[in-house]
Amino acid sequence: MTEVLAAFSLVEHAVSAAMTRALPRELSKRDPLVRPSEHADFQSNVALSLARDAGMPTRELAQALHHELDGNAVSSTVSGPGFLNLTVADAQLWSQVEARLADHRLGLGLPLAGTRTVVDYSAPNIAKEMHVGHLRTTVIGDCLVRVLTFLGGDVVRQNHLGDWGTQFGMLIQYIDEHPEVQWRGGTGCGAGEQVSVLDSLYRAARQTFDADPAFVERARLRVVALQSGDEVTLGVWRELVEVSTRAFQQLYDRLGVLLTEQDCAGESTYNQFLDEVVAELVEAGIAVDSDGALCVFFDDLTGPDGEPVPLIVRKKDGGYGYAATDLATIRYRSRKLEADRILYVVDARQALHFQMVFDTARRVGWLTDDVEAVHVPFGTVMGPGGTPFKTRSGGTVRLSELLDAAVEGAREAMAGKPHDLTGDALEQVIQAAVASFT
Ligand code: ARG
Repeated sequence: MTEVLAAFSLVEHAVSAAMTRALPRELSKRDPLVRPSEHADFQSNVALSLARDAGMPTRELAQALHHELDGNAVSSTVSGPGFLNLTVADAQLWSQVEARLADHRLGLGLPLAGTRTVVDYSAPNIAKEMHVGHLRTTVIGDCLVRVLTFLGGDVVRQNHLGDWGTQFGMLIQYIDEHPEVQWRGGTGCGAGEQVSVLDSLYRAARQTFDADPAFVERARLRVVALQSGDEVTLGVWRELVEVSTRAFQQLYDRLGVLLTEQDCAGESTYNQFLDEVVAELVEAGIAVDSDGALCVFFDDLTGPDGEPVPLIVRKKDGGYGYAATDLATIRYRSRKLEADRILYVVDARQALHFQMVFDTARRVGWLTDDVEAVHVPFGTVMGPGGTPFKTRSGGTVRLSELLDAAVEGAREAMAGKPHDLTGDALEQVIQAAVASFT
C-alpha cells in the first residue's frame, strides 16, 4: 500500500495547495511554515513571511489562504497579525487510522531500508550483579532496536560488557588465594546466586587491595598474566564471563528484551585493536604525550580551573582504559561493521566522555560525514525521596530483586481487588508486572 501521510505532512500539503491557488508561482513553492500549535493542531506563519514579497497586507494574505484551504481536510481560522490556525478534520484522522490499520506496517513504509545502525546498550559488568542503573539502558536500547528494525533498518545489537581491565587481575588473584569460597556453584545454585557470591568476592578483593601492598603486587602480576594470555588465568576469566553472561541472560529473558549471547561484544573484544588505535592517533598528531600519559586535548573543553580536560588514551603506567576501548569501538563499528549510525545508550553522566570520543574519531577520520554517532543519554533512577535509588543500607538495588518486588507488588494488588482469575491466568497477570518496565 502507499505510504499514509502523517497528519503533519497532510497539513503541509494542504497549505502548499492553498498557496498555489492564492499566490504567484515563484512564491507558492516556498516552505508553508507549518508548526505544532498550542491553539489548534498546527499553525502556519507563512502569511507573515510572504506578505511583503506578495505585496499584500499580512492579514489579507492570511484571509486569502484561509479561503483557498480545502475545509474538508483541514479547517482554518485567522488570528492576530495573520497567523493561520489549522485543525485536521476528524473524518480525515479517522480515514488515516483506517488506512493504517489495514496495513500490517501501519502505513509507515520502510524509510530506513538500506541503512545500518549499531546500538550499544545494557553493558553490565562481569562478576558484578546487574543493578537498577542497568534497567534504563536495557529497556531504552531494546526499544530503539525494535523501532529501527520496524522502520526497515538493519540493526546490530552490541552488548559492551565490562569484561576487561585491571580489576579482573585483582579478582582472579583473590579467588586463587581463597579456594575455600564456593563461587562455582553446585546443585541448587543458579547463575544468579553465583554472580551474587562473585559480587561479594569482588568487594572483599577490593578491600584487601586497598589495605595490603603485597596483594597489590600479586594482583598486578596477575593482570600481566591475564594480558599475556596465561592459560590458567584466562581459564578462570572465561569461567567468570560465562557465569555472568548466563545470569544476565536470565534477566534479559525475564524482561523480554532481544539481547542474546550473540550480541555480546565486551571490552575484551577490542583489546587486540588498542595498539593500532593508539598508533593511528599518534601518527595523526592527535594523541600527544602529557606527563608520561598519552592524551587527546580539545580546544573547547576546559575544567573548572581553566585547565584543558584531556581524554586519556594510555595511562602513565602503559595501561589502556575505558577511553581507549571506546575509541576502538567507534573505529570498529564504523569501518568493520559499516554502520551509518552508532547509538550509545549510556547514562547522562558519561556525556563528556562520548563528546570527547566522537570528536577524536572525527578528527582522525574514523567517523566521516556519512556516519552519525549519537550518545542517547538517560538520567539516574531516583528513589521516593528524589535521591538516587538505593537500598535501605545505602547499596545499589539489584535488578533481580527489583523485578521480584514488582511481581510481589502486583500479587498484593491483585489480592486486594475483586476478580475471578485463578491459577495460571492469575499468575500471568502478576508476572506481567515485570513487563511494566519494558
Ligand atoms: N559498562 C559500562 C558501565 O557499566 C557501560 C558501557 C557503555 N558502553 C560503552 N561503549 N561505553 O558503566
